[in-house]
Amino acid sequence: MLLRRTSTTLFSGHLLHTSSSQIAASRRTMSTLFSSVKEDHEEMYEYHDQYTRAREGGNVEAQAKWARQLTWEVARHAVAEEIVVYPLMEKHLGEKGKQLADHDREEHQAAKEHLHKLEGLHPGSAEFHSVITQMMKALHHHNDDEEINDLPLLEPAIGEEGSKDAARSFKRTKKLVPTRAHPSIPNKPPFETLLGLLEAPIDKIKDAFAAFPNEEEMGEAKDELKTRDHDAAAGRAAAGN
Ligand SMILES: [Fe+2]
Ligand SMILES: [Fe+2]
Repeated sequence: MLLRRTSTTLFSGHLLHTSSSQIAASRRTMSTLFSSVKEDHEEMYEYHDQYTRAREGGNVEAQAKWARQLTWEVARHAVAEEIVVYPLMEKHLGEKGKQLADHDREEHQAAKEHLHKLEGLHPGSAEFHSVITQMMKALHHHNDDEEINDLPLLEPAIGEEGSKDAARSFKRTKKLVPTRAHPSIPNKPPFETLLGLLEAPIDKIKDAFAAFPNEEEMGEAKDELKTRDHDAAAGRAAAGN
């Protein structure tokens, strides 16, 4: 798993009490892996509906925007599942898990091929619409498989805490994948373009994530952020400018 649990060495004395209770409270309300994955699937369907409405209204610009939102969401979701979810299935569900994960990766590959095609097409064109329609049809089937077969098997195997930890890893992984292409750097792989992201080997993406602070390292910064309140005017005055 990408993330480790918050280190107990981070806390001492009163801080231990406060932080532990905060962590316990947040754990109680935290999403499970199932709900996190399902939430993403719903997002895909929502963006696709928005795209369809824009198309029906003849608004090519809005169509292009929603299509872009959808394609990035599909790509980020696929990457996060390949990094977090499928390895857990392989680890905890034995041979069956390996088969399910291999099958899912094959279906992701098909989605990635659709995404590749879309990158070279104009959002207002009939061909673009046809590819998006095919991709969503395949994704509905794939997402349903995950919701009906994979995750109901995985959840009891990893337990409630394991599921919540996995959900945190999943969400964090998604955060580190861009939500859209950077317009000023059109051709700088691996993650600045959709194609770059799709073409980057999963191991390489994983390595790139290791270059960011992990949850344990982020813990202190997150706590401090709750009370930070920079007084710009006072800072200026103290600096004499
Ligand atoms: Fe998937
Ligand atoms: Fe999924």
